[in-house]
Amino acid sequence: MSAATNILLDVNGIEVIYNHVILVLKGVSLQVPEGRIVALMGGNGAGKTTTLRAVSNLLASERGAVTKGSIELRGERIERLGTSEMVNRGVIQVMEGRHCFAHLTLEENLLTGAYTRRDGKAAVARTLDKVYSYFPRLKMRRLSQAAYTSGGEQQMCAIGRALMANPKMVLLDEPSMGLAPQIVEEVFEIVKDLNTREGVTFLLAEQNTNMALRYADYGYILENGRIVMDGQAQLLRENEDVKEFYLGTGGSGSGGNAAADQRRSFRDVKSYRRRKRWLA
Ligand SMILES: Nc1ncnc2c1ncn2[C@@H]1O[C@H](COP(=O)(O)OP(=O)(O)OP(=O)(O)O)[C@@H](O)[C@H]1O
Ligand SMILES: [Mg+2]
Repeated sequence: MSAATNILLDVNGIEVIYNHVILVLKGVSLQVPEGRIVALMGGNGAGKTTTLRAVSNLLASERGAVTKGSIELRGERIERLGTSEMVNRGVIQVMEGRHCFAHLTLEENLLTGAYTRRDGKAAVARTLDKVYSYFPRLKMRRLSQAAYTSGGEQQMCAIGRALMANPKMVLLDEPSMGLAPQIVEEVFEIVKDLNTREGVTFLLAEQNTNMALRYADYGYILENGRIVMDGQAQLLRENEDVKEFYLGTGGSGSGGNAAADQRRSFRDVKSYRRRKRWLA
């Protein structure tokens, strides 16, 4: 990453332990420059959600804790702050699995995202209009109860709700989960738009490496609680190892069933790493 970029978030060698005994992150370091989209990729249980929770200070409610390393937001140590203090600093997490309030309408859900704001109703209404301009689907369905909306609309609602707090940085956990490919594309296009036009910085956790690398500027690959590779998204997309193990398009096995490729790659990845070609 070039020296000229402004580092917004600096995660430095963090270790995370759940329930005092389960060591999940084993020295994770990553940086998120202001105004960029950074992707954190890796398979089930790699530690993506845990990393986001460590940043947004949601670990305590999961009986987890950062036991080593540091997390800095614009140079300020934040690993001991509370979740609301993170929200006040403009950092908001959109949780995995689209947490909307089922019995509220989409608009009511969006408005709950503005609860920390102290700048008055008119300002909140302007933000709501802006959110609707990015998510016309939400505007169309604003009076529908969330329980009766589609998965894609709920994901958009979860992102829109985060935007209602006027965040500087959104930690977006697995936005593609369970969504049809066209909807995933629509969601990612909006994320890119928010990034370019509003300057919102994103740290994006994704199993969908292909989509993540299409939209991110920089990527980190996490395996078993450790970063095993990182680089400019464009370079990662062209990297033979990434192609073979994460994109299912490299060498042998391409053209087959994508899910089967994915399973094969994650199982083989360990022995492959022993050949130490990862960081070559
Ligand atoms: N609250 C918790 N208590 C104990 N262990 C946990 C807890 N949450 C996660 N873990 C464990 O930590 C490891 C990393 O989980 P995490 O949810 O961070 O992975 P992930 O990369 O987000 O995976 P996925 O793609 O499935 O969401 C897993 O082994 C998981 O079982
Ligand atoms: Mg996760």
